[in-house]
Amino acid sequence: MSASSPPGARRSRPVVANWKMYGDRRMLAAWGQALEERLGASPPAPVVVCPPFPYLLLFAGARRFALGAQDVADEEDGAYTGCVSAAMLRDCGCRYVIVGHSERRTYQGERDPLIARKVAGALAAGLRPIVCLGESQAERDAGRTEEILVRALEAVLDTLGPLGVESPELHLAYEPLWAIGSGRPAGPEDVASVHALLRRRLRAHDATMADRTPILYGGSVRALQARELRALEDVDGLLVGGASRDVDEFHAICRAWHDRERPQD
Ligand code: 13P
Repeated sequence: MSASSPPGARRSRPVVANWKMYGDRRMLAAWGQALEERLGASPPAPVVVCPPFPYLLLFAGARRFALGAQDVADEEDGAYTGCVSAAMLRDCGCRYVIVGHSERRTYQGERDPLIARKVAGALAAGLRPIVCLGESQAERDAGRTEEILVRALEAVLDTLGPLGVESPELHLAYEPLWAIGSGRPAGPEDVASVHALLRRRLRAHDATMADRTPILYGGSVRALQARELRALEDVDGLLVGGASRDVDEFHAICRAWHDRERPQD
């Protein structure tokens, strides 16, 4: 990549599988093996797999995809029953961690300050946090999308301070709640405008951070959307839920996304 390449060409462009709370040991092991076989020697962009916590070590030997977790504690260590620290995730081979997923905001009541502390802890431990932001259907209908996204992003950036500006590891994911699990992905125009908004907000803090930070899209992604989304300048990666559990579909998504790497495409 030459120094004169556009900023977007220099950002990491991962495709991430979020398994959520599905699967069992046998299923995940078979799926991981099948994915390794399908991905081939060197996928042109990172592929990341986020299984449930108990199955992280199943993937310790994976060579063609990286490992991520679905959540992390905000504390370094201590008497926090049921929590898993960033250092433990690193110890189990994780490189990435999803933070602030809307399902955790909804069902575990996670709020922006806690999420911001988790992001800070993940960065400090050397993980790449994928910070999820998104509006509900009601918020969208009320025209509050920008307000909700900006508030969530600013909470993280304020807590991080210089760490956020300096860290090359921060990732964002736009995951509209109304698109998750609905089979109804956001349209390319909506995605393009929200991603551009997030990029502008990052730029208001620091131009280098804005150029460097990958912004992923998640919400009912299938191979068809991967093909549409790969053309959008500010969409740097995909966060895939349901479709990732079918290894053929997930591989088709990776292929469709990675095709963007081909100069003639
Ligand atoms: P679906 O792809 O099932 O809509 O899930 C998206 C998601 O929440 C990924 O984190």
